Amino acid sequence: MPKVIICKTDDEVAKKAAAIFAKQIRSKPDSVLGFATGSTPEKTYAELARLHKTEGLDFSKVRTFNLDEYWGLDGDHNQSYRYFMNDRLFKHINIKPWNTFVLDGTAVNPMLECKAFETKILAVGGVDIWLLGIGNNGHIAFNEPGSPVDSRTRLVSLTQSTIDANSDGRFFKNPADVPRCALSAGIGTVREARKIVLLATGSKKADAIAAALEGPFTPDCPASLLQDHKDCTFILDSAAASKLKKKY
Ligand code: PGA
Repeated sequence: MPKVIICKTDDEVAKKAAAIFAKQIRSKPDSVLGFATGSTPEKTYAELARLHKTEGLDFSKVRTFNLDEYWGLDGDHNQSYRYFMNDRLFKHINIKPWNTFVLDGTAVNPMLECKAFETKILAVGGVDIWLLGIGNNGHIAFNEPGSPVDSRTRLVSLTQSTIDANSDGRFFKNPADVPRCALSAGIGTVREARKIVLLATGSKKADAIAAALEGPFTPDCPASLLQDHKDCTFILDSAAASKLKKKY
């Protein structure tokens, strides 16, 4: 079962998550890191940027892979996940742009794009740690409920719940603007990471967290499919942990 760390605040969640990534980078400077987008990891990226600036945390040999990208958005679009990563993290640290891999939402052939992404992960020896968020509906990356445990990187449709969550003013202004499809790493792709760190903050995530940790192992809650991973840690704030019944 995943290890569970419950923090008082989302600032503490970010500090703990960044510390895990900093330790990984210091012990293996050419680490392969998996990253996520969304509101939840923003403070973690700010903390990693701070560690680079104030403590010289060195990203010069690090390689990164991102979970997903909206289908149809190019990397210059301000809601694309390539733009998000450049803006929140990459431009603040000394990572080499050519060592950052975000799926291309405008690729001519999405199947080839997804295959190439998986091949690149294999070519660098697999992902050392993958950072994840969780959707209100339990999704990880854009693997919506029903996604198989062995799914691979592919073109997927977004559920209405995800479209609504991403057009609540934080990102898109209204649901009609949200792309209906995305390229997403599969659950099987993510589960192959040697270590997984899932973050959740806020009460909107409480039901999904309870289902992921204390419900059955089922594609109905994609995050529950991490229950048998051998090195997975959930870092939660008290609001996201508020519906857990067991003591952690
Ligand atoms: P959020 O998204 O961090 O913006 O809440 C998480 C997710 O959908 O995986």
